[in-house]
Amino acid sequence: MTTVDPTPAPAVRLRELVFGAAFAGAVRAAARLGVADALGDAPAAPKELAASVKTEAQPLKRLLRALSAHGIFEETADGRFAHTEMSRLLREDTPGSLRYIALWCTEPWTWEAWPRLDEAVRTGKHVFHDLYGKEFFDYLNNDAPESAHVFDRAMTTSSRQSARDIAEFLDLEGVSSIADIGGGQGLVLASLLEKHPEVHGTLLDLPSVVANADSRLREGGPLAARAQVVGGDCRRNIPVEADLYIIKNILEWDDESTRRTLRNVIAAARPGARVVVIENLVDDSLSMKFTTAMDLLLLLNVGGGKHTMQSMTERMEQSGLQVGDIRQVNGFLHAFDSTVPA
Ligand SMILES: C[S@@+](CC[C@H](N)C(=O)[O-])C[C@H]1O[C@@H](n2cnc3c(N)ncnc32)[C@H](O)[C@@H]1O
Repeated sequence: MTTVDPTPAPAVRLRELVFGAAFAGAVRAAARLGVADALGDAPAAPKELAASVKTEAQPLKRLLRALSAHGIFEETADGRFAHTEMSRLLREDTPGSLRYIALWCTEPWTWEAWPRLDEAVRTGKHVFHDLYGKEFFDYLNNDAPESAHVFDRAMTTSSRQSARDIAEFLDLEGVSSIADIGGGQGLVLASLLEKHPEVHGTLLDLPSVVANADSRLREGGPLAARAQVVGGDCRRNIPVEADLYIIKNILEWDDESTRRTLRNVIAAARPGARVVVIENLVDDSLSMKFTTAMDLLLLLNVGGGKHTMQSMTERMEQSGLQVGDIRQVNGFLHAFDSTVPA
């Protein structure tokens, strides 16, 4: 509650913005403590909540107050806290939960990397090797199992939402086999195979990632007879022939990796095969604040970035693909349909 004029003047807004780390830290703390999961439909006093999530009551109240200032939880007139639409999204059981996205965007390595953004902007290169002595995915999968788990869950969360949209969006007429390159745990592939019972599919991702592939695709799963799961490195080789290749949210790393991946797809595919690249574009998005922030994070960790419509088209054409339709899948994703030339 405030008696002060709430209109943020530029100076107030800028003060708020430079405390972005505090907001991100507060969301992370709430997600890690499971505060949203502990709060039910009825408002609860900080003391009650503190007992459930095993914290001190007073600091928890301060955390909740800071979050409420952003519309994540809401303080009632009698000093209890209630859910808002945003706080519910931090619950693990909410459909479309953002708990793992919140954790992923605030993982410990991000706090090491952000202060080096000026350096990354100066050089145009990532800072990850300098910080951790190895490449990002190597570090993630071999040295930071907790972060790797959060990453896989976060990807699964965002894929779950987009998988339905993509299954709805993609016309698979004439397609009998699909390969999802860097397909994570295989949600997009599983959704497509469920919708199209005559289609076969291959999931290719790093070995440690496909080890946790969607159970529907694995041995004993309902789609296993039509699914193949391949552990590999798409920058080295893509040992899969398919009518349609899907490459979603992969071509965000350095240009050389993008070139190699697209070249490997073309080498694996027969002429006329379809390649659909699906990406968040930095120049056309429902939330420019989220997409531009992610673009900077990609500069820090892999020396990559989100594409513009033009830069994505150019990379695909330079690799030899014939780019056709470019269409919006949903508010965050665009699909670039292309063909492997004869
Ligand atoms: C941003 S995620 C996108 C995952 C999935 N396509 C989706 O949209 O949900 C990037 C994926 O690329 C995979 N990846 C990274 N390097 C790879 C490589 N060299 N070969 C194959 N997959 C790789 C990661 O393991 C991760 O699953």
